[in-house]
This record gives sequence, structure tokens and C-alpha cells, in this order.
Amino acid sequence: MEIVSNSKEMQDLALRWREEGRKIVLVPTMGFFHQGHLSLMEHGRTLGDRLVVSLFVNPAQFGPTEDLQRYPRDLDRDAALAREKGVDVLFTPTPEQMYPEGYQTYVEVEKLSQGLCGASRPGHFRGVATVVLKLFNLVQPHAAIFGEKDYQQLMVIRRLTADLNLPIGIVGCPIVREPDGLAMSSRNTYLSPEERAAALSLSYALKGAQKLAAAGEKSGEKILELVRKIIPRVPHTRIDYLALVHPETLEEVETLQGEARLALAVWVGDTRLIDNASIPEARYTCCV
Ligand code: PAF
Repeated sequence: MEIVSNSKEMQDLALRWREEGRKIVLVPTMGFFHQGHLSLMEHGRTLGDRLVVSLFVNPAQFGPTEDLQRYPRDLDRDAALAREKGVDVLFTPTPEQMYPEGYQTYVEVEKLSQGLCGASRPGHFRGVATVVLKLFNLVQPHAAIFGEKDYQQLMVIRRLTADLNLPIGIVGCPIVREPDGLAMSSRNTYLSPEERAAALSLSYALKGAQKLAAAGEKSGEKILELVRKIIPRVPHTRIDYLALVHPETLEEVETLQGEARLALAVWVGDTRLIDNASIPEARYTCCV
């Protein structure tokens, strides 16, 4: 596995692969790999013959009071894990290369970026969409893989790709959970043992909502009410947002008619965690 930190070098290599007829797959990440990232790499390996994992903690998607400085980083460990997964190139550009002096171009996916995490984190999806488009231009992938834990992000990127006519397949892969249900996230490392226990309230509440819907409840309000009852009972938690939305438009769903997504963000101590689930529970999940 090669580690490429220079953007021009990455793009030259990708263009050469394209000339040779290689199929390039990109897994964009911010590093500090867990099983969720590794599952994206495993799937990526099956989709093409050149697998690139980008590792870039993107300053443009963090607000001024957020955890950019504190975000966990361990390049040596990440490189060893990526190597084990058969990654061809770990692309690790610097902020100076991605946003050199004088940088002033940003991409905005308007409506989809406004609600849910976009409302709590103004500018977040502008930063995500911008860096993802830049990564697409540098890595020239035929397909790119994203986890469903960042469900709104996946929808924003699908929209960006369609709206800008990018010839790239966007693949979403299911959330990977710890055995007790906690969705894997690099930010879980911030949690104290008590907060780690409290963080289970997210997946527990989502399961409860799925059960309620499976029992025939169609009212969005009733489903949200259940989650609103479960989470605040757990110490250290504070709901940031909670919404039942259409799985593609992310518009609020009042009455369940097909599949919807229940999405939530919860502060557990000083750590903001997100999670989501299909309501009612999808019969099977696979990368699509
Ligand atoms: O999901 C992430 O890790 C990031 O938002 C991404 C897609 C790598 C863009 O920085």
C-alpha cells in the first residue's frame, strides 16, 4: 500500500489508472478507523481494482466551537489497518493542499443540507460537499462508498452527484454497531464509562420506535413521543434533534406510508452522537 499525501501526485496516479482501464473505488474518511470504516473498505475491495481510502480531517466541515483540534488521529494505526484490508492507496492530503491561500470555492446542496444536522451545525454540509467534490476530482473514482450512520450526508452526496452530473456511483453501506447496539463512531472515544452506557439510549430508542411501528403504529408523532420519553430518562443525555423523515427528501413524515427514517442527534455529556434507523425496520440491509 502506498501513502500519498500530495494532491497532484494522487490525481496523476488516478488519471494513469483511468488510462489503463482500471476501476477506481474511493472510501472517503476522516481516519481513526473502526469496524464501520473497515466494512466500507471490504465492500470497496469487491467493487473495483484500485481502492483508495482518503484520510482528511476536513476543517471546512467543523464549526468554530466544534471538535476539529480534538478529533482523534492515529495515522500509523490507520495505515496498518488499511494495509490489512488491501487498500492500494491511503490518500492523506494536508489542509494547506486542500485549501491553499486564496481558496474561495464552495459547494452547497441547498435544501437537503438545511434540516437535521444542518440546522444544528450551520455550514457543515457545505464543508462536506466541497471536500467530497474535491476528493472526487483528485481520485477520479468510478464509485465512492459512504456509511449510513451519516445518513443525511449520504443523501446530500447522492444529490450533489446527480445535480452536477458526476459519473460516479454512490454506494451506501449499513451502520456497523457494537455488540450492545451503539453505532460505531470515532467520537465514541470521547465517552467516559458512564457516558458510554448512556449512549446506548440512542440505539435502544430507535429499536423501540421500530417495534412500535412493527406493531402497527402509523402516527409519526406517537413514534417520536416514544423516543422523547426514553432518552431523557437516561442521565447525561440531551436530545439535540429528533425527526421522522422521508428516506430521500428528508422531509418530515406525519403518517407512515412506506419506509421512513428516524434520525436523531443526542448530546451525551459533551459529545454529540448521531444515529438513525429505517422505520419500520428494513427486512434486510446491504450496500446499495
Ligand atoms: O463522513 C466523514 O468521515 C466525512 O464527513 C467525509 C465524508 C470523509 C468528508 O470529510
